[in-house]
Amino acid sequence: MTAPAPAAVAASPERFPHRDLLGIEGLTAEQIGYLLDKSDSYVAQNRQVDKRSALLRGRTLVNLFFESSTRTRTSFELAGKRLGADVINMSAEGSSIKKGETLIDTAMTLNAMHPDVLVVRHQESGAVSLLAQKVSCAVINAGDGSHEHPTQALLDAVTIRRRKGRLRGLVVAICGDILHSRVARSNIHLLNIMGARVRVIAPPTLLPTAASQLGVEVFHDMRKGLAGCDIVMMLRLQSERMQGSFVPSISEYFHFYGLDTEKLAYAKPDAMVMHPGPMNRGVEIDTEIADDISRSAIAEQVEMGVAVRMAVLDALSARLPNFAPAAH
Ligand code: NCD
Repeated sequence: MTAPAPAAVAASPERFPHRDLLGIEGLTAEQIGYLLDKSDSYVAQNRQVDKRSALLRGRTLVNLFFESSTRTRTSFELAGKRLGADVINMSAEGSSIKKGETLIDTAMTLNAMHPDVLVVRHQESGAVSLLAQKVSCAVINAGDGSHEHPTQALLDAVTIRRRKGRLRGLVVAICGDILHSRVARSNIHLLNIMGARVRVIAPPTLLPTAASQLGVEVFHDMRKGLAGCDIVMMLRLQSERMQGSFVPSISEYFHFYGLDTEKLAYAKPDAMVMHPGPMNRGVEIDTEIADDISRSAIAEQVEMGVAVRMAVLDALSARLPNFAPAAH
């Protein structure tokens, strides 16, 4: 039997006073807590037969993806549709970007069609904030270069909070290609703001030079870094962002940094394994662990993703454009 969904908390411009969601950096613990609580009520709604509500009826959401995506794009599409919005998906493939149109021109073109929300993924760090300055609708960052991926950090936080009951005080190890990862950066910000203790584990070549200034403990040895931790968050080797060689070979990388049963045994016995996807089995994670549903929360992360994106759209709905354009 499915429990009735908790009544949705009305969007409050006081509790979330932003037009856009461009990153986790700069949000307060209260604002993050508000989004996480809202997400919980959407998880319940999404487990019911009728998953729709009318909050965004008449509104238009445009997914503008300059980089490939499976989970994030589909998840924003479902989130928008479940809240009653019209959703349009645009990718760089097959658009005028291929004909040389600039990011800003593309944004201005879309803006002239009066969308209410633009969800943007771009390969350059900072591109989404730049675009947000040029348009009059809400903008959500769905990943900009190696900078931020705020909804991923939020969905990771919801997953952790639901399994462990809290974030404060937990020891979270983020392992692998930290250097190129927007997921790592957004998670580090969020976990620090919410009072968790963050460790990063990576070879020196895959760490930013100023890693310790991010407020994390740095480890190069998986066994030492995993010792006693509550959460093990694995990251993909982002080879598309690498120019040159960052690891000697894939098999050597797996030997030192791949998560297998032997290394996981150093974490707490009930440690939870996470991965934002897409996974490279046998590179950063052993298949057996990825598929062990008692240890791995990977499918749950995807489920939480839809609820979190609904919560973000809901929170932003309080400040969506509400004007009739001047008649020409
Ligand atoms: C991540 C991304 O695109 O930043 N994936 C995702 O959104 N689930 C991580 C990755 O590509 O490795």
